[in-house]
Amino acid sequence: MIRSVVRGTGAALPRRIMKNADFEGMVETSDEWIAQRTGIRQRHIAADDETTASLGEAAARAALDNAGLTPDDIDLIVLATSTPNNTFPATAVDIQNRLGMHHGFAFDLQAVCSGFVYAVTTADLYIRGGLAKRVLVIGSETFSRILDWSDRSTCVLFGDGAGAMVLEAGEGTGSIADRGVLAASLRSDGTHKDKLFVDGGPSTTGTVGYLRMEGREVFKHAVGMITDVIEATFSAAGITAEDLDWFVPHQANKRIIDASAKKLGIAEQKVVVTVDLHGNTSAASVPLALSVAVADGRIKKGDLVLLEAMGGGFTWGAVLVRW
Ligand code: UT7
Repeated sequence: MIRSVVRGTGAALPRRIMKNADFEGMVETSDEWIAQRTGIRQRHIAADDETTASLGEAAARAALDNAGLTPDDIDLIVLATSTPNNTFPATAVDIQNRLGMHHGFAFDLQAVCSGFVYAVTTADLYIRGGLAKRVLVIGSETFSRILDWSDRSTCVLFGDGAGAMVLEAGEGTGSIADRGVLAASLRSDGTHKDKLFVDGGPSTTGTVGYLRMEGREVFKHAVGMITDVIEATFSAAGITAEDLDWFVPHQANKRIIDASAKKLGIAEQKVVVTVDLHGNTSAASVPLALSVAVADGRIKKGDLVLLEAMGGGFTWGAVLVRW
């Protein structure tokens, strides 16, 4: 059978780093509150010349280099983002053009913080369905542009950045010993749409709007939803938490990551944590964390890696990959 095998990963971050203490003169907060409640210590914030398209392009080029490929080798780009450069065309098409790629096809996918997990699952289906051989899956965000910088309950939580992965069609036997995407489980439930949303849009206000979140409400649901979808993925693959080499969760809050890992019985040393460095970068958070753990040698060929995310909608999902 065909498997979608990871060929390379890459990342890109804005030049400017904003530390927790930098908020202290802007809103009533403290480094101590942010670090204790979220685990975040710093985030990267895009300058005017850094956009979702430019960061996505840089991450894509890094992933192509890591894979030893060029844009000519790619036939599909799936970009997960909630902060596109324009309402349309898709920012994926902009990135395709920036890469000098004038063949194949490209589109955006919008599932907020779960975007990358949805995008990997989508790319896997295009590969296994025979419509693409090599796919660039990108998560790129500039949430700093949709933050209300006077709202301390949200502005301290998010950051900008991009991560990318090249998936390539390979041969598998159908067992979980195969390399590639092995199982996935996706969910959404719109009854929660007002708990984390942007208060504008082309069809309602005609504006872009600002991010609004009932943080405590999101927190209340997060651990249960995350663990449910991971247990569904484990049972689809016929594995347990002990079989995992690495857990790469969405990086929203260290307390949510710790509570989910504990509930699932995943050992602390198997959890990749980058929320301290990047904050919550929405669809970029999982591929940024992946890139860090691949670059520092933790994630190696043959490792069993679990990706997970949960966010606005609510949307949530998990993907199991043999590296
Ligand atoms: O990626 C999408 C998914 N998003 C998430 O996963 C976010 C989920 N939610 C969270 O991570 C947490 O709920 C937060 C980090 C947003 C908040 O932490 P919390 O422990 O749930 O705090 P809280 O909302 O219960 O607020 C506690 C207090 C409140 O004051 P009172 O009502 O107790 O007087 C807040 O007004 O902390 C206050 N507060 C702050 N204080 C200092 C809220 N934001 C801040 C702040 N600095 N930045």
